[in-house]
Amino acid sequence: MANIDDDGISNISDNETFDEVAALRFSRRSFIGGGLTAMALASLSGVGSLLSAVPASAKANHAAASLLGFAGIPISEADAVVVPPGYTAKVLISWGDPVSTGPEFNQDGTNTADDQAVQWGMHNDGLVYFPLNGSSRGIIVQNNEYTDDVLLFHDGVSRWSSEKTRKSLNAHGVSIIEVTKQGRGKPRFGGEGEWRVVRPSTYGRRITGLTPINIGGPATGDGRLRTSADPSGTVVLGTLNNCAMGFTPWGTYLACEENFNGYFRKTGVQTPLEARYGITAAGFGYLWHTTDSRFNANLEPNEPNRFGWVVEIDPFAPNSTPVKRTALGRFKHEGAWVQEARDGRVVVYSGDDEQFEYIYRYVSRLPWRESREQGINPLDDGILYVAKFNANGSGTWLPLTPDNPLLNGWTLNDILINTRGAADLAGATKMDRPEWIDTFPESLTAIATLTNNTRRGTGTNPPVDAPNPRPANTYGHIIRWYYANDWTENTFGWDIFALAGDPANPASGSNIVGDKYGSPDGIYVAPSGRLWIQTDVSGSSVNPENRAGAYQGFGNNQMLCADPVTKETRRFLVGPNVCEVTGVFLTPDEKTMFVGIQHPGEAPTGSNSPINPKRFSSWPDGAAGGRPRSSLVVVTKNDGGQIGS
Ligand code: FEO
Ligand code: CA
Ligand code: CA
Repeated sequence: MANIDDDGISNISDNETFDEVAALRFSRRSFIGGGLTAMALASLSGVGSLLSAVPASAKANHAAASLLGFAGIPISEADAVVVPPGYTAKVLISWGDPVSTGPEFNQDGTNTADDQAVQWGMHNDGLVYFPLNGSSRGIIVQNNEYTDDVLLFHDGVSRWSSEKTRKSLNAHGVSIIEVTKQGRGKPRFGGEGEWRVVRPSTYGRRITGLTPINIGGPATGDGRLRTSADPSGTVVLGTLNNCAMGFTPWGTYLACEENFNGYFRKTGVQTPLEARYGITAAGFGYLWHTTDSRFNANLEPNEPNRFGWVVEIDPFAPNSTPVKRTALGRFKHEGAWVQEARDGRVVVYSGDDEQFEYIYRYVSRLPWRESREQGINPLDDGILYVAKFNANGSGTWLPLTPDNPLLNGWTLNDILINTRGAADLAGATKMDRPEWIDTFPESLTAIATLTNNTRRGTGTNPPVDAPNPRPANTYGHIIRWYYANDWTENTFGWDIFALAGDPANPASGSNIVGDKYGSPDGIYVAPSGRLWIQTDVSGSSVNPENRAGAYQGFGNNQMLCADPVTKETRRFLVGPNVCEVTGVFLTPDEKTMFVGIQHPGEAPTGSNSPINPKRFSSWPDGAAGGRPRSSLVVVTKNDGGQIGS
């Protein structure tokens, strides 16, 4: 999400086909690990010197050949997706295309709310490929983070109506498609065709801002989740602002509600809870509250409390009802990355993307298989923690539980509904906008993007500290943390993987080993160990009419590939004008990469002109199209090899 990021400071299926990807995912090759494990982080007291020794040790453990086999590409300011020589990028599906059967996209924006309910949502973001048949047929689940309501309609936001509110809600949420490269299409390798969306498909589905979603976990039915439409506090209509994602070893998808606050309006005095979560009079400019009272927090003060959660979806059961998992806490969840611990419990990492917010970890009480055997969802029963990063390179997970003395008087539901407030009291470390988190399973190492924080160290704002070392942090950075023996430990060591910017320009303060980038957001560890990094520089800095300031010369938003040991970083893909590159997932054989291109051509104000929606971009439809469209792109290597090799 570029333009309408909240820059404020408010301080089930046991599906056997899934085993293949899960096995790959949870036992990925170790890169930093051999060395780290050998040293075993024997004592975190010496963590500083230990961490400095890690790369050398790991390097000895790592094959000499670079993981990066492709030719890095230059920056691009073209209105196109650019990939290295020997690779092909093709659009698979775009906003408004049917997810199964249903109406086609109208280039003039005249599709109805009902049309949109069965079409690919707007502004796609995090995604997961769930195999149905290995690497040649699967289900793709992708979030639709937000809408540009001017671009969404033929006549923009004029004459706002309940039909417009419904269409905007239906363009939010999650889109699910079945994809295959079997059958039709020109055979390329092994007789297989090109990737296409299967239509009709029993899996094709939309979950929107209007889909009934159950509330699960400890906060179910809490008085603060009850509304006039749902006096039991157990069923919410819709999921909103789904940014990054996760998936579970039992084969479900996790959609994360990020900037949910922007859809609500509250005039007059805010409650402390509203203030902490940014429920304001102006919101982000959406007009839903004018036709649907649940977005008017003066009338429905509890409706905002029903957003800001992680939503579990079973893609293999198209008629299943999604569930908001309240034990994971309520905040602006960027994503929810699941890592199985060695003892079988699940650990879930989640960043709260706002300036000076926190990084969280959830640990299930039971090993996930045992939990499910007992009929308990592993995401409903566990402990939530928040991260404290110490200056000496060590860190601590602070429990957010009623028995934490710093939370004296708080019930569990107080903590889960006002997670930010609890984390404040617990003493968490204020970070530079935590975005995606991923893991190197065997090396017990997690990695997270901190996209930027231009207020760090300015005025009365918090000063720089060891984990957030740059004032007015324009370019962002990437941080890692590691454990000695298992993911469930409450202490860890940490270091900074990269300070973003232009390494050729000392003024930028970057230590990137390779190609420049800034505002890292999406991050994804491939089974092969390649580290993929996606950028989200705001449209105000990358639009063709204003390539000035700190991001001059950085080109359009991009995706890079890094070797996690050598840190060598090469630019692999550049997106079209004013897009964000967000969402990436590989098939298990790593021969197909799915990449999200979000909000091409978005105007710097956050909405396009209904007069000239193609002012900045006409991607992907070009001259034939009426407006730019967020799309899911397929990248393949022309020789049939692994992506990045
Ligand atoms: Fe939706 Fe934090 O990016
Ligand atoms: Ca993001
Ligand atoms: Ca972002």
